[in-house]
Amino acid sequence: MTVPLFDTSTPLAPLRPQLLDAMTNVVDEGRYILGPNVSAFEQEFAGYCGAAHGIGVGNGTDALTIALRALGVGPGDEVIVPSFTFYASAEAIPPTGATPVFCDIDPDTMCVTAESVKAVMTPRTKAVIVVHLFGNVAPVAEIEALGVPVVEDAAQAAGTTYVGGRPGSLGTIATFSFFPSKNLGAFGDGGAITTSDAEIADRVRMLRFHGSYDKVTYQHIGYNSRLDELQAAILRVLLPHLDDWADGRRAAGRHYVDAGLGDLVSLPVPTDGADPAWHLYVIKHERADELAAALKDAGVGQKAYYRVPIHRQPAMAQYGAGVELPATDEVARTHLAIPMSPVLSAEQAAEVTETVRAFAGAAV
Ligand SMILES: Cc1ncc(COP(=O)(O)O)c(C=O)c1O
Repeated sequence: MTVPLFDTSTPLAPLRPQLLDAMTNVVDEGRYILGPNVSAFEQEFAGYCGAAHGIGVGNGTDALTIALRALGVGPGDEVIVPSFTFYASAEAIPPTGATPVFCDIDPDTMCVTAESVKAVMTPRTKAVIVVHLFGNVAPVAEIEALGVPVVEDAAQAAGTTYVGGRPGSLGTIATFSFFPSKNLGAFGDGGAITTSDAEIADRVRMLRFHGSYDKVTYQHIGYNSRLDELQAAILRVLLPHLDDWADGRRAAGRHYVDAGLGDLVSLPVPTDGADPAWHLYVIKHERADELAAALKDAGVGQKAYYRVPIHRQPAMAQYGAGVELPATDEVARTHLAIPMSPVLSAEQAAEVTETVRAFAGAAV
């Protein structure tokens, strides 16, 4: 039995007629930029997250840059960000003029902690980007208690729940990506920003539209970064199903636990109070690359997403030189994503687990 790394098409299949209707309606309506579906989705998504305001933007990377700009981040400022995350989390900082400052993670939750942030704070720290990595939740309240605004990079955490609310409502401002493989994925690029601060929301709307409030006077260097009307129409069909898919992801995680995978590798650890809708199911193993090869040979999807952490990427040389992040390096070396989707069955999880067991047995 082959088991794919993810399955985006099976959950969408029953929704095909609704999706086609939604797209047809956009064509009939003929309003392609910031039309009725964008404003409706903005409200529906903000409501889902538990935030007062939602603003659709072009993608999750723009969402981060615009969120930072809306917080007033600019030249001379520092923004703290983890290095063990998708490259865009840090890539979004230099375009504001600010400097990325990399912090370490908790090797179990794979998210930043208040201690790891505090260790690199300086008087120039203007904001912290925390990443709710793989669907887990970073401790936002503890970090904001340090006296610095938190941008939640929630690109991977749609559908996750937390004792203090959902990702998107935990910090000063939050960003999402609707890249097709995400927990809530569009049929192309898309992103959103949520916040409960009306002034910040207002600045975000202005910045995503060329830095103008009225398209007559341009007082700010902004962006042309809007959620597409067609993508918004699609996302409105999908959003009501997000919680069911999130439950499917949780169930898939339990299937791995029940199959005994935890006896063979380190399983991902939810942060206290978090019930992750696992976007990626990322295990750790001392010989992760050899395990990846064994899984590949058996037809099991796997991927080491961030083998080279961001502070060691060539483009970040000026910010990463001399930075020492032991937990980041360790997790970068040992992590491996294995199959995860809302429809991953107990049989598939058992198959993956048995392949890992055979690898472990052969290695003894
Ligand atoms: C953690 C994280 N941040 C930011 C992004 C950037 O989102 P996008 O690809 O929509 O620009 C992604 C995903 O692509 C991501 O996984």
